[in-house]
Amino acid sequence: MPHRPVNTSSRLAEVRYEIRGTLSHRARDLEAEGREIIRLNIGNPGAFGFETPAHVRDAVMRSLPRSEAYCQQQGLPQAREAIADQQRSRGSATVNADRVFIGNGVSELIDLSLRALLEPGDEVLIPAPDYPLWTAATLLNGGRAVHYPCPAQRAHLPDIDEMAALITPRTRAIVLINPNNPTGANYPRELLEGIVELARRHRLVLLADEIYDGILFDDVAFQPLAVLAGNLPCISFGGLSKVHRACGYRVGWFSVSGSEPRLRELLHAFDLLAALRLCGNVPGQWAIEAALQGQDTIKALTNPGGRLHESRRAVLDAVARSEFLDVVAPSGAMYAFPGVRQGAVPLFDDQAFALHLLESESVLIVPGTSFNIDYRNHFRITLLPQAEIVSDVFMRIERALMRTAEGALLSRHVA
Ligand SMILES: Cc1ncc(COP(=O)(O)O)c(C=O)c1O
Repeated sequence: MPHRPVNTSSRLAEVRYEIRGTLSHRARDLEAEGREIIRLNIGNPGAFGFETPAHVRDAVMRSLPRSEAYCQQQGLPQAREAIADQQRSRGSATVNADRVFIGNGVSELIDLSLRALLEPGDEVLIPAPDYPLWTAATLLNGGRAVHYPCPAQRAHLPDIDEMAALITPRTRAIVLINPNNPTGANYPRELLEGIVELARRHRLVLLADEIYDGILFDDVAFQPLAVLAGNLPCISFGGLSKVHRACGYRVGWFSVSGSEPRLRELLHAFDLLAALRLCGNVPGQWAIEAALQGQDTIKALTNPGGRLHESRRAVLDAVARSEFLDVVAPSGAMYAFPGVRQGAVPLFDDQAFALHLLESESVLIVPGTSFNIDYRNHFRITLLPQAEIVSDVFMRIERALMRTAEGALLSRHVA
């Protein structure tokens, strides 16, 4: 009798995470055949030679013998105190250690927070482009992702009126990613105030993904959303993966700010869901206090002469030289999101181009449509490789764009 395939949940039907999807699998096959692929698809500092700062690593090594039991479901008390201190020192007065939840990366907590919040059919406003886990986790938890546009023409910033027009009686929450992945936008204070006002008017929960809060270029300032939100319910996400280059430790957290009566039920739901998975990875949590209270190590990378600064410069220089590309200079995070200029490559398709680039030039990028946008002329690369590699990559991209443009013209001619 033929074996019937095992069915999977229909909830997965619309769920996508192409950063590690089909193209990445194709790259793995090419590597198995002996090809060397330049993988620029993941913001994974450790894979590009960045190291977790020694004082952060030492804190984990020293504490390993104390890491063998489950800890309290919200996380180690000292670590939660350190996170609450950071939030209060920024001006977020209502945060204390009881309102901090530590998990296995922000990834786990994005899912947990949406699971606690959403009823079937509830709508969540999410930026487009987004970090696609936000859309995926909304769908997996029965919600509807409603995308608010952040196009390149507006320096990848949202427009308050456009956001307001998307709000319905079913809207529950607004997600903000600031500094932004994939665009590198850093939201100005007035814009954030406008978003807070929308949340106030429509009684929405603010979900602020601030995992890149310390990665900023050219002296721009990061504005934590919770400080502006004051007594409104705001959940602020942070972690060790990016600013402290410790992706593999799997340590992230959120803190909950706002006035107590509105939050009681939500905090209880977070506590229940956190307890169901027992606790976050304990060894990694010892790194939190050291990371947040130890010396700053990120500015040396983002200031002129630092690796991230110079790689970003290499992207901007390469795009300035390109016949085909434009880019909004990233103000923060560790990515650039270039676009092919209108009409520069007839019939350009980001997915087809990414595959062509991989096959012909051994470079793996992420097509823009993977970030839930409906236009097809962008792609994302990470700023993590050395500047020389970035320059080499953009030479390969330019060659591939040239071939794509010539191919399109030729086929038009033949037709
Ligand atoms: C915007 C954003 N949020 C959350 C995450 C998840 O990070 P982690 O699970 O490593 O804390 C990432 C990872 O790239 C990200 O870019």
